[in-house]
Amino acid sequence: MKKRVLAMVLAAAMGTAMLAGCGSSSDDTAADAASTAASETEEAAETATSEAEAEDGETAETSIEKIVFATNPEFPPFEFITTDGVIGEYDGIDMAIAAEIGERTGVEVEMQSMEFDSLLVALQNGQIDATIAGMTVTDERAKTVDFTTAYYTATQVMIVAEDSDIASAADMEGKVISVVQGYTGETVVQDLGYEYQAFKKGTECIMELLNGKCDVVVIDSATAEKYLEDNSGLKIVEDEEAFGAEEYAMAVAKGNTELLDLLNNAIEEMLSDGTISELSAKYIDGE
Ligand code: ARG
Repeated sequence: MKKRVLAMVLAAAMGTAMLAGCGSSSDDTAADAASTAASETEEAAETATSEAEAEDGETAETSIEKIVFATNPEFPPFEFITTDGVIGEYDGIDMAIAAEIGERTGVEVEMQSMEFDSLLVALQNGQIDATIAGMTVTDERAKTVDFTTAYYTATQVMIVAEDSDIASAADMEGKVISVVQGYTGETVVQDLGYEYQAFKKGTECIMELLNGKCDVVVIDSATAEKYLEDNSGLKIVEDEEAFGAEEYAMAVAKGNTELLDLLNNAIEEMLSDGTISELSAKYIDGE
């Protein structure tokens, strides 16, 4: 059934809109990924509903009534778990963007949690509709899924001990390098030809560094800044030549143009009206 939604709304009218009815806590929802998409009554996943109401706005047609997103909430400031997040326990830039997409389109938004490595597989299997996970667009990934318009630009950086002599990517040669498995940080180090150890989470890499078990962690810039806020004795080393710019985008299953269009419209609108910059500033600088 076609559902009329108000897709284009005034940012000012929506800026402070709050989500309601999503305060219940839930356990990890990854295991339920396969079943939740089909069941509205499943209580495992956090849901954010909204009625997008605006005085001014164009209407758009969509038959989409619900978007089942998945993320890997171990990537502050983009996604992390907290007691009172913007979508249930989920909080961060991406989570606020997903909630805002629900607000603007009137489509129900659900968030699931899974390993980063499982996200694209879950998309291909039809377990979820979209990913929102600070995920960098790469040619390799674009072979298996369709990426939306990019909404954030990042780069890889090195986190080292304050007294480290590592000043460039080339200085990592012969050092003990930690990366997160499946992240672009791993690819970058592979491409440089260095050996490394891979962990499941960024925080595990940081523990290795703090315990003197490794010399450097390669990870995305904004996440690195967050880890520095939480841990003393560390510094960030950049190398623009070695680490190029990376673009974060959402992904949908190949050929899912209806959802891709809906997401792209919302993203482009939030880019041009400043919503994404505002949300980024809020979570990055606490503004
Ligand atoms: N940008 C990196 C990548 O695409 C890391 C993303 C990690 N995201 C997460 N939600 N854990 O590989």
